[in-house]
Amino acid sequence: MLHHRHLLRQVFKVFTNPTYSATKEYHMALPDRQVVVIGSGFAGLSAAYEAVKAGAPVRMLERGPKPGGNSIKASSGINGAGTLFQNQHRIYDTPDNFYQDSVKSAGKSLKENEQHRTELIRTLVDRSAAEVKWLTDEIGIDLSVVAPLGGHSVARTHRGAGKLPPGAAIVTTLLKKLELNPLFKLITSAEATALIVENGAVRGVEYRDENGVEKLLGPVVVAAGGFAGDSNGMLAKYRPDLAGVPSTNENRPGPHGLLSSVGAEMMDMSRVQIHPTGFVDPKDPLSAYKFLAAEMLRGEGGILLYDGQRFVNELETREVVSNAIMKQKPTSQSTKQWNVTLLLDPGACEAAGSHLGFYQFKGLMEKKKVGELDAQLITAVDRYAQVVASGKDDLGRTNFGRWRLKPGETNRNEEVCIGHVTVVTHFTMGGAAFNTEAQVLRRDDAGQLVPIPGLWAAGEITGGIHGDNRLGGSSLLECSVFGREAGRQAASSLL
Ligand SMILES: Cc1cc2nc3c(=O)[nH]c(=O)nc-3n(C[C@H](O)[C@H](O)[C@H](O)COP(=O)(O)OP(=O)(O)OC[C@H]3O[C@@H](n4cnc5c(N)ncnc54)[C@H](O)[C@@H]3O)c2cc1C
Ligand SMILES: *[C@@H]1O[C@H](CO)[C@@H](O)[C@H](O)[C@H]1NC(C)=O
Repeated sequence: MLHHRHLLRQVFKVFTNPTYSATKEYHMALPDRQVVVIGSGFAGLSAAYEAVKAGAPVRMLERGPKPGGNSIKASSGINGAGTLFQNQHRIYDTPDNFYQDSVKSAGKSLKENEQHRTELIRTLVDRSAAEVKWLTDEIGIDLSVVAPLGGHSVARTHRGAGKLPPGAAIVTTLLKKLELNPLFKLITSAEATALIVENGAVRGVEYRDENGVEKLLGPVVVAAGGFAGDSNGMLAKYRPDLAGVPSTNENRPGPHGLLSSVGAEMMDMSRVQIHPTGFVDPKDPLSAYKFLAAEMLRGEGGILLYDGQRFVNELETREVVSNAIMKQKPTSQSTKQWNVTLLLDPGACEAAGSHLGFYQFKGLMEKKKVGELDAQLITAVDRYAQVVASGKDDLGRTNFGRWRLKPGETNRNEEVCIGHVTVVTHFTMGGAAFNTEAQVLRRDDAGQLVPIPGLWAAGEITGGIHGDNRLGGSSLLECSVFGREAGRQAASSLL
């Protein structure tokens, strides 16, 4: 046994030696302590990257058969204020602007624990430009396109110019880099089931894989994501009104029990972001997982119909449109969803371009001649075409996008694009309380929030930054800022 320990320590030294190069034997021998990262989304990958950079061996546990979590699906991009790319596009922005927008979006919740929350927001915005620089200069990802998203006073959400969406680009590139490093090892189909605690400090993780229950010792970074996809579990518990509502997130149990079982404080658990348009796939209409129908489809001129009638100004905020849909009768209870028709005229179809091609390819939207539609839908199309022609809408829409279809018999041979959508859950603002050093917090006997030794967290599993509402592009940013912070802190506690 003694000899064995000695050997492990030797291996550990080899692992942490920067001049060491990988060989198979060393790869198979595990050090007895390492940084353990739970979850292989962007937050976990950022933590692992910094930890191995600091010289610490890292074991990453991923419950799913494939890495990437929800991060790999992110499509709009990552926020940065005062970046080189904004500068190139002559967009003037500062961390202070970004701070103001974030505080506004966080809303009333900011008043609860104000100092704690504003410190987190400060850290997020102050480091944002450096994170974009890290991803482009050090990791090699293209983020040269800057777009304006709702709630931001200027364009500050960065993505690449190519076809690969930003989430996929970030996850695959980071993984490739990590897998070249002998200090890093990813174990998939391995679910963390408990944290090991000794004298009030976290000492490691118990996990289950095909070989049964195993243990890993060392400081722990929990980056296990949100719970929007857990519609009949955690979501039903904290938001009974949303129980059974499908999600743009993978359908999987919420991971927060790992943290609450060691006393972590949870914040903002009832604050859930919903989205009005997730596609109902005709091949699997009741699936709990839905593909997001981009906002742009409505922006370019698309309309929403329930029972053949418009019922809301389609360009209202996500919340207003979602609430208008949820006032209608759901079409199913097992998966609680609505059947809303999304319809684009030829002008809007053209403007939606490559997005639309992709949705057609996936069978989520189809093209049909107006004359082939149900009588009720033809009436709805004619009625709306009349609204556009007159410029007056009872529901208050003033921007009609690229809609150009005229009312009446002359439009019957024109092709519209049509699909069905429902309200979906999209993001959970709530999660474990944590501080600017990414340490997970618990309440002590005096009611103060104090760190739990040996435990860090980052990404969607944490709470307190977004308050009432997350700004688009700020979740990838929190993965980067606090994931890297957690990785650095955990590595320094190990070494
Ligand atoms: C369709 C879509 C588009 C989005 N677009 C954007 C965008 O453009 N910009 C933006 O900022 N945000 C966007 N978001 C939100 C953002 O992608 C997520 O909030 C963020 O990626 C979460 O990252 P994460 O690393 O915290 O968690 P995830 O990426 O979800 O990773 C968590 C991982 O942990 C694993 N895990 C969970 N529990 C365990 C366990 N017990 N043991 C082992 N493994 C476990 C999971 O299987 C998962 O792989 C989008 C979200 C969706 C769904
Ligand atoms: C939604 O409604 C359309 C008709 O408008 C129908 O063809 C389709 O089957 C419905 N889908 C579901 C899942 O109910």
